[in-house]
Amino acid sequence: MSQSDLFGAAQADASPSELAQLAASLRQQLHHHAHRYYVLDNPEIPDAEYDRLFRQLTELEDAHPELRTPDSPTQRVLGQVLDGFAPVRHAVPMLSIRTETDTEASGALAFDARVRRELELGPEDPPVEYAAELKFDGLAINLRYERGTLVCAATRGDGEVGEDVTQNIRTIGQIPLRLQGEAPPVLEVRGEVYMRRDDFERLNERQRSKGEKTFVNPRNAAAGAVRQLDPSIAAQRPLSFYAYGLGQVDGWAVPDTHSGILDALIGMSLPVCAHRTVALGAEGPNGLVAFHQAMGRLRDQLPFDIDGVVYKVNRRALQERLGFVTREPRWAVAHKYPAQEQLTQVESIDVQVGRTGKLTPVARLKPVFVGGVTVANATLHNLFELRRKRVRVGDTVIVRRAGDVIPEVVGVVAGNRLAYVANFRMPKACPVCGSEVVREPGEVDHRCTGGLFCAAQRKQALLHFAQRRAMDVEGLGEKLVDQLIDGGLIRTLPELYKLGIAKLAALDRMADKSAQNLVDALEKSKQTTLPRFLFGLGIRHVGEATAKDLAKHFGRMDSIMDASVEQLMLVNDVGPVVALSIRKFFDQPHNREVVEQLRAAGIRWEEHDPVAVDPTTLPLHGMTLVLTGTLPTLSRDEAKALIEAAGGKVAGSVSKKTHYVVAGAEAGSKLEKAQTLGIPILDEDGLKALLTQA
Ligand code: IVH
Repeated sequence: MSQSDLFGAAQADASPSELAQLAASLRQQLHHHAHRYYVLDNPEIPDAEYDRLFRQLTELEDAHPELRTPDSPTQRVLGQVLDGFAPVRHAVPMLSIRTETDTEASGALAFDARVRRELELGPEDPPVEYAAELKFDGLAINLRYERGTLVCAATRGDGEVGEDVTQNIRTIGQIPLRLQGEAPPVLEVRGEVYMRRDDFERLNERQRSKGEKTFVNPRNAAAGAVRQLDPSIAAQRPLSFYAYGLGQVDGWAVPDTHSGILDALIGMSLPVCAHRTVALGAEGPNGLVAFHQAMGRLRDQLPFDIDGVVYKVNRRALQERLGFVTREPRWAVAHKYPAQEQLTQVESIDVQVGRTGKLTPVARLKPVFVGGVTVANATLHNLFELRRKRVRVGDTVIVRRAGDVIPEVVGVVAGNRLAYVANFRMPKACPVCGSEVVREPGEVDHRCTGGLFCAAQRKQALLHFAQRRAMDVEGLGEKLVDQLIDGGLIRTLPELYKLGIAKLAALDRMADKSAQNLVDALEKSKQTTLPRFLFGLGIRHVGEATAKDLAKHFGRMDSIMDASVEQLMLVNDVGPVVALSIRKFFDQPHNREVVEQLRAAGIRWEEHDPVAVDPTTLPLHGMTLVLTGTLPTLSRDEAKALIEAAGGKVAGSVSKKTHYVVAGAEAGSKLEKAQTLGIPILDEDGLKALLTQA
């Protein structure tokens, strides 16, 4: 009997063994597709098809509860609330790791020297082989698989006894409920549960817009989610996982090296971070230094927080010879980076007015070195968050800066406020233009009602319009915009194109040549594309990606301006909030006028009929490329645009999932990485050839 026959009426006639087979087949298919989706990031079937298979299995299990297995994908989300976590004694203690506090290169060399001394190696002996990987900033988890099925997930606890968090861990899509391939009687996998920075930002954004408590950093958010007693809440906190080692193993021929173990885990469908290396041969510990430096440069671009790298003696036989001191193995060390959180003092609290009129309280800080840069300002987001955190002038606060996220004040160090300091208040009038400040019911943000009358909004609107990713008016930076707006030379976007050399040259510190350059740049910017123009208008919620989707879908500016909310919602990733914001924007006569005047000023772009493109026919469909170095004729943005137009994606870092690396002059660690992973490397001509492939 075929799978589809077994649905509906035929199910009643199926024999128990046929039903069991069907359940097993559905489980296997769902495991396979979940792995493609969550781990490989490369699904083979649409979400709706996955949902259909999932529903079939759910129905089958509801009708025949005896078919429900602990590794069934339907067991990922469970409704029942726990009243505490059961203790779990670890079969093999979960150790911690010694930290090399020296954040300089010498930290790696000191570790190597210690290892060699312990192993009684002389200078003439060959270098020790090391595995190097990232030190993820999350929390350690032990996953116990029995005959390939996840039976228990436990926190580290005190290293001897942890907590049973199986229910919550099951909600993490990246963690296989069933291992692929070999199924040894016992295999414990250890690794880190963490939250990606974008998931963390989105979670906090959601909390903020509901006026609820935000999380201090991704690690706290992840730890809170794992130890959440209600698995359905845990399931709403997006977590990720990387495996980095083993616990108890029974009946499996463990590979001889740490790197071999990680490779084997990948083969079993476990996620292992691609940023790792083995330093061996003549390079010896210098390979570790190079890894520490390369990852340090990459740190801001990684999608998750790391607080350092970890070096491990690669050969297990040597690890065993080295053994442990107290709770730490002698064969591993963590080599840190500068912290992403630091203490400093609030000198004052100012209010900034953004492009959309939003008033943001900003803490002016005593400058502090955090996350690799000096930070003097940090956002406090909004009045409610500021109040909840109880931040006042003079307070000592924790500042966090990670990745390219704006530095933020995450909390106050209690108990050291010296004198009474008045509470911060939102101004009633816009600090820039004096217009009334309002807060819409149900919203947390205060806004200036001045619109383009407000110089802050005008300045920001102009900067946004002129930026490289929008109209790309070279040389129109912050200083010049200040001069143009403050000097009353322009009030609206279209007026920008009426600036003559004479007016410009009259500005302070503006030489004739620079004036001519700006006029030329403005002229050049007139030939643009619809997505750039649309993005440049600064419609709330319309970022670069949405602008591209809109342009692709509608083809013409007029169709976008006249589209109904329903029509707008047909566009990829456009939901009601975005659609409404676009509709509202074009409902304002003065915004339509701005568009008309800009067109009249000579701005032009190509339009096309709304076409239904089949993305699977594009030459780079489903492919991920990484750009590095300087290409001879294409800018980074141009190359990216070409790749995306051909259906490809551009990623920031090289991994096993990268299909091609496009390298130009002065390509750095990404190129090296591609070489070690054996990923094909293209030059500009190679890229162009790929793009024009049928
Ligand atoms: S190995 C025997 N590898 O760091 C060594 N730990 O104190 C056991 N961590 O909380 C740990 N990334 O969760 C190892 N690549 C990595 C790691 C890592 C992060 C965490 C681990 C534990 C702490 C070790």
